[in-house]
Amino acid sequence: MPCPLTESDELVFFVNGKKVTEKNVDPEVTLLAFLRKNLCLTGTKYACGRGGCGACTVMVSKHDPVSKKIRHFSVAACLVPICSLYGAAVTTVEGVGSIKTRLHPVQERIAKSHGTQCGFCTPGMVMSMYALLRNHPQPSEGQLMEALGGNLCRCTGYRPILQSGRTFCKEADGCQQQGTGQCCLDQRENNCPSLSSKNDICTELFAEEEFQPLDPTQELIFPPELLRMAENPEKRTLTFSGERVTWISPGTLQDLLELKVKHPEAPLVLGNTSLGPAMKSRGHFHPILLSPGRISELKMVTKTSDGLTIGAGCSLAQVKDILAESISELPEEKTRTYQALLKHLQSLAGQQIRNMASLGGHIISRHCYSDLNPVLAVGNAILNLLSEGGPRQIPLNDHFLAGVVSADLKPEEILESVFIPHSQKWEFVAAFRQAQCQQNALPDVNAGMRVLFTEGTDTIEDLGIIYGGVGVSTVSAHKSCRQLLGRHWNERMMDEACRLLLDEVSLPGSAPGGKVEFKRTLLVSFFFKFYLEVSQELKTQVKLFSVPVSLHSRRYPEIAPSSLSTLRDFPGTIPEGVQTYQRVDSHQPLQDPVGRPIMHLSGLKHATGEAIFCDDIPRVDKELFMALVTSTRAHAKIISIDPSEALQLPGVVDVVTAEDIPGTNGTDDDKLLAIDEVLCVGQIICAVVADTDVQAKRATEKIKITYEDLEPVIFTIEDAIKHGSFLCPEKKLEQGNIEEAFEMVDQIVEGEVHVGGQEHFYMETQRVLVIPKTEDKELEIYVSTQDPAHVQKTVSSTLNIPINRITCHVKRVGGGFGGKVGRPAVFGALAAVGAIKTGRPICLVLDREDDMLITGGRHPLFGKYKVGFMNSGRIKALDIKCYINGGCVLDDSELVIEFLILKLENAYKIRNLRFRGRACMTNLPSNTAFRGFGFPQGTLVTESCITAVAAKCGLPPEKIREKNMYKTVDKTIYKQAFNPEPLIRCWNECLDKSSFHSRRMQVEEFNKKNYWKKKGIAIVPMKFSVGFGATSYHQAAALVHIYTDGSVLVTHGGNELGQGIHTKMLQVASRELKLPMSYMHICETSTATVPNTIATAASIGADVNGRAVQNACQILLKRLEPIIKKNPEGRWEDWIQAAFEQRISLSATGYFRGYKAFMDWEKGEGDPFPYYVYGAACSEVEVDCLTGAHKKIRTDIVMDACCSLNPAIDIGQIEGSFIQGMGLYTTEELHYSPEGVLYSRSPDEYKIPTITDVPEQFNVSLLPSSQTPLTIYSSKGLGESGMFLGSSVFFAIGDAVAAARRQRDITADFTVKSPATPERVRMACTDWFTEMIPRDDPKTFKPWSIPIA
Ligand SMILES: Cc1cc2nc3c(=O)[nH]c(=O)nc-3n(C[C@H](O)[C@H](O)[C@H](O)COP(=O)(O)OP(=O)(O)OC[C@H]3O[C@@H](n4cnc5c(N)ncnc54)[C@H](O)[C@@H]3O)c2cc1C
Ligand code: FES
Ligand code: FES
Repeated sequence: MPCPLTESDELVFFVNGKKVTEKNVDPEVTLLAFLRKNLCLTGTKYACGRGGCGACTVMVSKHDPVSKKIRHFSVAACLVPICSLYGAAVTTVEGVGSIKTRLHPVQERIAKSHGTQCGFCTPGMVMSMYALLRNHPQPSEGQLMEALGGNLCRCTGYRPILQSGRTFCKEADGCQQQGTGQCCLDQRENNCPSLSSKNDICTELFAEEEFQPLDPTQELIFPPELLRMAENPEKRTLTFSGERVTWISPGTLQDLLELKVKHPEAPLVLGNTSLGPAMKSRGHFHPILLSPGRISELKMVTKTSDGLTIGAGCSLAQVKDILAESISELPEEKTRTYQALLKHLQSLAGQQIRNMASLGGHIISRHCYSDLNPVLAVGNAILNLLSEGGPRQIPLNDHFLAGVVSADLKPEEILESVFIPHSQKWEFVAAFRQAQCQQNALPDVNAGMRVLFTEGTDTIEDLGIIYGGVGVSTVSAHKSCRQLLGRHWNERMMDEACRLLLDEVSLPGSAPGGKVEFKRTLLVSFFFKFYLEVSQELKTQVKLFSVPVSLHSRRYPEIAPSSLSTLRDFPGTIPEGVQTYQRVDSHQPLQDPVGRPIMHLSGLKHATGEAIFCDDIPRVDKELFMALVTSTRAHAKIISIDPSEALQLPGVVDVVTAEDIPGTNGTDDDKLLAIDEVLCVGQIICAVVADTDVQAKRATEKIKITYEDLEPVIFTIEDAIKHGSFLCPEKKLEQGNIEEAFEMVDQIVEGEVHVGGQEHFYMETQRVLVIPKTEDKELEIYVSTQDPAHVQKTVSSTLNIPINRITCHVKRVGGGFGGKVGRPAVFGALAAVGAIKTGRPICLVLDREDDMLITGGRHPLFGKYKVGFMNSGRIKALDIKCYINGGCVLDDSELVIEFLILKLENAYKIRNLRFRGRACMTNLPSNTAFRGFGFPQGTLVTESCITAVAAKCGLPPEKIREKNMYKTVDKTIYKQAFNPEPLIRCWNECLDKSSFHSRRMQVEEFNKKNYWKKKGIAIVPMKFSVGFGATSYHQAAALVHIYTDGSVLVTHGGNELGQGIHTKMLQVASRELKLPMSYMHICETSTATVPNTIATAASIGADVNGRAVQNACQILLKRLEPIIKKNPEGRWEDWIQAAFEQRISLSATGYFRGYKAFMDWEKGEGDPFPYYVYGAACSEVEVDCLTGAHKKIRTDIVMDACCSLNPAIDIGQIEGSFIQGMGLYTTEELHYSPEGVLYSRSPDEYKIPTITDVPEQFNVSLLPSSQTPLTIYSSKGLGESGMFLGSSVFFAIGDAVAAARRQRDITADFTVKSPATPERVRMACTDWFTEMIPRDDPKTFKPWSIPIA
């Protein structure tokens, strides 16, 4: 309950130079909510609410009481409590620049460099870069990477964003490939992608010389009023009281200490990065919050002869700077603890979080995964505590970390500062961490290690080893350390240490977080790294005594001092790359934009935050908010739903259940709202409608649902097969005589492939706003969807009103990737039911957790193969059976399995084939469409067969690929004719551009010399069929109006998902009407202007809609022809005026009756796809065999785009989908509990690629023109195909692992499961450490998570 304190004070801060004073501020409100709701500054986006994505980044400026300077820093607004901003200035994307007034160079450059696609992440990117430039107008590339490390983008693949940022960097002159300082244009022989000497090839996607310069004098100044406030700080305690929570901000240290006595249970809020997420997601509640933000004593830094004392209130970013400064000032031997801390501070979270999180908050939170606590503890840090009773010191040791009361703070105490002693000459400190990916990911395991030797010897005098991530708190191996005292630092000690550590740090098989064997292996692998590092140090330090007994052995192969770097973590390097495309014909009129790299139409608006997404629409009168109640059981009967308690809560207006649906409740198999039975955790049961989103969400927790569990409960593909639980009949294609062929071959291999699912992780979660009209049951629906017609139809049947009363509007979608084809209809229908029931507009915005829980994603796959081949590598017979985990209802699973089977042969001509596929029904949320639609999973099976054949033949996989690839005009397995010539060209160009063969040799050379790090290289070909397999889907319409001022309004049936379809459509209209694009506009996609549209999916959106726009424009031009002929020198405006006067219609509908697709599954024959996209990708990686981490060294992609409509957009699609594919195959891992609950529901638990995952060298080239007569101007749809090319990284990792296994003489077959996470890679690089760890009998424990593929 709120504390009965005095009245609320007035909160004063500035936003974008304007003063904000809030009288009755609610401490529970975050800056993000305040900006969006109170100030209507919707440029700052909500995407995760947990500090993990950067979409909500804004800049905060504060006067630093210690340095007396203004500090500008980026923060995640979703975690900033509004009350913490007293006296601060906030700058949002709107304050940086605007298309209405003046664009800021950051905004201009990100847009013009094609760094925006859907644009949802763009304001956050802009703000991160802007904050960087405020501090460093000419930053280094390293600083740029650091600044963007906390910002996720799901569309672009980051390369263009980085490229825009680099234009500000001091190193940015010349391309400086691979840090040689030489431009790639000058160094062809150095494996650098070459530019063709032909002048029809182009590598510039934007003109940098057009960018306006950065002028720091133009920036908003820190408000003088705030400066005055800071110079005469308010010493009074400020109190802000809300409905449930009171925020108290004392002005002096003494007041803080008194308050701590008065409210011992109240936490201190510093960065709120630990408290905030716990309050949001784990239901923690604190009625009183104490904010020491104004107390300068907590920010003091003191340097003494024996160490550093850092104020607990310093942010982690400040700590990083302080440590870096000390490292540069002090002798190396004194800074080893600081270096270890600095190493972790470079990868801990993103910049925004490091700017917010405090050292004190980090230490006191004692997260089991804390990166700093283990290092601080082994470094003998001391905590300086304060209370009214006076100061006290306690060691930051294992007792403190374990929360032992006697070693902890007393409730009335606070942490004032932390003393971190200098290290000594004979003391070595190191830090280790391994996470799912390098940056912005919580560690799986981390460690701090320290050893002190007796001077001049290798005798251990003191040893500290502390691990994080392996227990409920940080774990010290103090017993092992004690036992090793007095030992020499040699191999025998190493052996003994491993045994002791594994004994002492035991991790049960059921440990939360799973990955138990991996974690055990890391315990000893980290120690081994420490052992080697220290051994090397000892060798260089000690000339006096003989170094350890030989380090070299089979078990612990030594590394040469020159290769010491291989021990270290991979450095974060700045990606480079070249994008190559064909220049338009020199005769093409300048006005004709087709084929040119035109910027995304909304690019500038994305960058200024002026692009309106569904949830940015200003609130409508009487708008209510809806939140969903979902099942907590996987398969159960619903006994009762009791909403009574929820209905009593303030602000709650109604609860919507299945009984409120006037029409049909979905289909028999797929209900909108569950009635009697639930089929998965996350199934929607009912919905609460309330005045605010917060009230609606809180009320969902008070709805009481009683269940009776039902059998069977099936989650895994294996169980589904056992129970015969399938969603649809088997799909099968066969050619040749497979059984006979198996009789004739030299060898046969059988194997299994597992491919995990994938979450769409579109940055904009599912959103819809339904506005009921007063007349004729009309409804206006604003929805984030790829298929508004489907939303419209579903709402119509749900409400039982004709389709013509419902209008769906889609302005733009913040990423879809297939996830917004089917599901938005459900949310639209539910919101519509709420709107009809209450008679008021309903807004439904899924939070990230619910979105991930409810909506399903890519189908996990289990594939079995049997492949027969000759010793030459020629495959004669291939039998593949695939099972996908479809979840609880059919959705798109049957189509996915059909597409998967149709596309499974990929680029290979194998005479005898049998492909079978089934969609399993399980008690999981239904999986659905996802970019590539089965192809990325299925083809991984085919390519894995190739790798297996290569291994058996002793040949490199690329030879097997080449040998079996289609070579001449041929027919696919389903007898569709095609010409593989562009495929072969892509393959050859890719081999050539990547200098594949010479690099293969270099990789082998490297591998010979390095035992603990291995490189791998792989090249994969691709034949990807675009389009839907049904004729009715190949149609589109457009509506083009010309107004009397000559302006043109184009509308078509495609939706803008970030893929630039609107830009392309205006390029088409511009060519057809021979009119500059500046005359044209696209407002939105609406079911009222173009009816009965097809989902924007299957890569053909621009193809079919482009033809419809073309048709409409041609009709109009034909009508205008006589007028133009009469007055050929006239202006467009004159012709239009004349046409109007002559009563010529200036509006036309265009229609495209597309490709006839058919597939006869009985006969196994058809013509299901209009055309193929071909491509090839080569990737090289380096793997750390001790941790499983990998670095992407280089990727080269060659893609056949035919005549690209817009090379910037098409290259963007290729890069974005490649990186998304790379995520699928390497880091994106979903975890389910044994009860079928999805654990991975936020960016903390589910890792999509970040900026540091982009290959160091990333080259994309579009194959010089081939032709495809079927599409608009012979262009090709490239939306999905690049996904699969991400598998080149997967196979390169596999190649590196194979090299490691060969060197270790491991002959057993192996397949790395997808995703090739550090866990899987580490465990596949079998060695002494993986063998020594204890293994549990799976029957003896319940695992934390279950594999569902
Ligand atoms: C997206 C994200 C990613 C992250 N990634 C990592 C990572 O990779 N590695 C890692 O180690 N951590 C990570 N973290 C955790 C982060 O380091 C901690 O949340 C942060 O350091 C806590 O500091 P804070 O100032 O925000 O604490 P707050 O949330 O403000 O407070 C936390 C607790 O500390 C107490 N407290 C704070 N200061 C004092 C004081 N002076 N005296 C007494 N008690 C005090 C409070 O009472 C409260 O209980 C991540 C967090 C987020 C949100
Ligand atoms: S919404 Fe704030 S970081 Fe994701
Ligand atoms: S453009 Fe970055 S998320 Fe879409």
